[in-house]
Amino acid sequence: MDRLATELAGLLGEGNVLVSAQDQAPFLTDWLGKYRGAARAVVRPGSTEEVAAVMRLCASHGVPVVPQGGNTSMSGGATPDEAGKAIVLSLTRLNRIRNIDSVGNTITVDAGVVLARVQQATEAAGRFFPLSLGAEGSCTIGGNLAANAGGVAVLRYGTMRELTLGLEVVLADGRVWDGLTALRKDNTGYALRDLFIGSEGTLGIITGAVLKLFARPQARATAFVAVQDTAAALSLLGVVRDRCGDRVTAFEFMTGDCLALILQHIADARLPLAEMPPAAVLVELSDQDDAAALGEKLEAALIGGVEAGLVIDAAVAQDGTQARAFWRIREGVSEALVRAGKAAKHDVSMPVSAMAEFVAAADAAVRTAASGVRPIVFGHLGDGNLHYNLLPGADQDPAVFAVIAPELTRIVHDEIGRRRGSISAEHGIGQLRVAEMPLRKAPIELELMRSLKDLFDPAGLLNPGKLLPGKPLPSSTSN
Ligand code: FAD
Ligand code: MLT
Ligand code: ZN
Repeated sequence: MDRLATELAGLLGEGNVLVSAQDQAPFLTDWLGKYRGAARAVVRPGSTEEVAAVMRLCASHGVPVVPQGGNTSMSGGATPDEAGKAIVLSLTRLNRIRNIDSVGNTITVDAGVVLARVQQATEAAGRFFPLSLGAEGSCTIGGNLAANAGGVAVLRYGTMRELTLGLEVVLADGRVWDGLTALRKDNTGYALRDLFIGSEGTLGIITGAVLKLFARPQARATAFVAVQDTAAALSLLGVVRDRCGDRVTAFEFMTGDCLALILQHIADARLPLAEMPPAAVLVELSDQDDAAALGEKLEAALIGGVEAGLVIDAAVAQDGTQARAFWRIREGVSEALVRAGKAAKHDVSMPVSAMAEFVAAADAAVRTAASGVRPIVFGHLGDGNLHYNLLPGADQDPAVFAVIAPELTRIVHDEIGRRRGSISAEHGIGQLRVAEMPLRKAPIELELMRSLKDLFDPAGLLNPGKLLPGKPLPSSTSN
């Protein structure tokens, strides 16, 4: 162990300071297998105080720190670079559920608590925490906050930013900000909490949070609906919302090519329709109504969709098992894409009304640039968020595709730029998109973000190389 590791072991206990390549390996590559980094040590503090002590020590030594939760980032945000100078600070041992307040409808948790555990604990308490995403079995609340996670229930409940009341944060110098209030209103200064949410570990280490809870839905109604295309799906969303209002909890779109890829790669995914559709939507309502009433509401809305010429076919789940089978299709998409090979992934958002023509324009543009390329498109339609992924054509060499992929990304992101959209709707910038930031953000935005970064992390030790491009050299050394 080098001197730093020895001092860290003195703080955390030797077993919580990993220095061997074997022990470190799971922490040094991302879920997609796109990035592989190196670390001086991987440390696993067990409390806010230990996180603070680690930050004080690293600040005194000028050692960069990469915070990590469940390591499910899709933008390489939790993976260190290859220099091996940083430590990875894993929050997974901060895994206490500190309090559930069923009257105030809040839960207070450590940052390292896994999302699925929060869902289960609140359900057991007769409440509901709505954040839901494919990685919920391993992503942590701290990572959800740092990446401002979205997922499949944003339509009704918002992103992590809207679900959070208070934060506890350890700053770059080891000071602790205890902002763990459960206040729904507090107008006493700047929104410090919201600065840390979505900051991807570059402004501070989140060690605790107070989250909003909701009434536990008494009934759900779920349908798998065949539609013609994005435009028909969007119109159907309007019909369903007009009839069902806020009961619409999820409205997940996928093209026919996406559906075919899932059925090809996910063994237990079954098509609940008579024929493969051109596109499909998974619709879910939830409410305090009884199940029969809710099911009737959904069926009436779908009949409205048929009458409007929007619905080609539909399967309404008759029980929870069928509903879970529908969701199995949707949740299989990320895995299917990984098994299909190295996709050029794009997590984009735009004004909801622009989505149909974006898909048409992007499809045409990428096919002109690379004939045979396969758009695999799915996403959270009501949020204006599409996962616009590209796979090589059946007869296209993946190695050649990998070479042209950056150009395809530029084309897709240019189409997004023309619609004042975002090149990262929910996965964050991480290291994946950091080089594009000067192209896609106005100079004033980059200046303001850089000023905040310099204020919170003047030595640039927090998650270097992520979210913001490297600190510009002072003008005297720019040439
Ligand atoms: P990590 O991957 O460990 O870290 C994510 C970022 O946060 C990194 O920059 C890291 O440095 C930082 N960080 C982690 N913990 C802390 C902390 N305590 N304090 C400060 N910084 C911290 N995302 C969505 O938004 N919507 C989806 O629908 C969605 N679906 C997914 C499906 C699959 C199958 C997978 C693999 C990922 C999916 N994701 C999705 C992406 C990812 O799961 C989310 O971004 C998630 O919030 C990351 O949580 P994590 O604990 O794994 O964080
Ligand atoms: C999803 O919506 O499933 C996620 O954002 C993951 C992905 O884009 O692959
Ligand atoms: Zn998503």
